[in-house]
Amino acid sequence: MGTPLIELEGVTVRKAKGVPLEGIRLEVSHGEFVGIIGPNGAGKTTLLNVIAGFERFEGTLHLFGRRESWKRSRETRLRIGYIPQILPIDPAFPILASEAVMTGAVGRLGPFRSPGKGEREKATALMEMMRVAHLADRPLGQLSGGERQKVSLARAILQEPDILLMDEPTASLDIAVQREVLSLVNELHRREEMTFLFVTHDFTMVPAAMRRAVLLDQGRVIFDGDVATAVSSETLSGLFRYPIEIFKRNGRRYVSYD
Ligand SMILES: Nc1ncnc2c1ncn2[C@@H]1O[C@H](COP(=O)(O)OP(=O)(O)OP(=O)(O)O)[C@@H](O)[C@H]1O
Ligand SMILES: [Mg+2]
Repeated sequence: MGTPLIELEGVTVRKAKGVPLEGIRLEVSHGEFVGIIGPNGAGKTTLLNVIAGFERFEGTLHLFGRRESWKRSRETRLRIGYIPQILPIDPAFPILASEAVMTGAVGRLGPFRSPGKGEREKATALMEMMRVAHLADRPLGQLSGGERQKVSLARAILQEPDILLMDEPTASLDIAVQREVLSLVNELHRREEMTFLFVTHDFTMVPAAMRRAVLLDQGRVIFDGDVATAVSSETLSGLFRYPIEIFKRNGRRYVSYD
């Protein structure tokens, strides 16, 4: 498999009031699609922030085979796309959806080159793929949560990162839009040469392309392996401290809880 793209060893994050991450060991190879699953406060966002370079940590982190401190070089930062947990945007914030997508190209082009025709065409194609092309001239703040999430995906892909970090990309969306975003994420993973880390506390919202699950609980990895094994009654009931029953019928997985 070669050198892992992402490699954490003994990674710990300490805060005045606790330890959001403790002794994390994680290796992710090129092209993998890894789910990071755990309850609220498990440390999922903190883990993404460590990888993206927004969090001080102890231990060692290698990205693309190179040792990294908590600060990222510009080159490394550009190779990591990050879709943060959904943020409310001031509806008056003066940026159009199409302009928001174009900011994905800014880092790669540098401050002195403005995006050319090629970049604009790519942005349009991505907006079409995400089915938000018709919203190009609408202010970003006026878009719905789901529409904004799809704009965020288009923006992140325009950046052409090697690693794409997604933090709860389907939270707060209705069921139909959740499914749509998941299938878009699946399609992106098939089309693009990218490694995906997909954070969620909702184990019913896992895209088909996700093969590996890392379960986080109270800042520690409690399971790392096959999704089918992770999504079992026993493991999930323990992780979420609530009785959850998973059963299979006609090859499909169903979840039942009170
Ligand atoms: N800057 C900070 N200062 C102090 N504690 C923090 C800080 N950031 C995060 N924490 C704590 O670290 C723990 C993990 O937080 P984190 O945001 O990583 O959880 P999460 O798994 O992403 O949860 P959620 O599902 O709610 O998004 C939480 O208990 C949180 O309160
Ligand atoms: Mg979080």
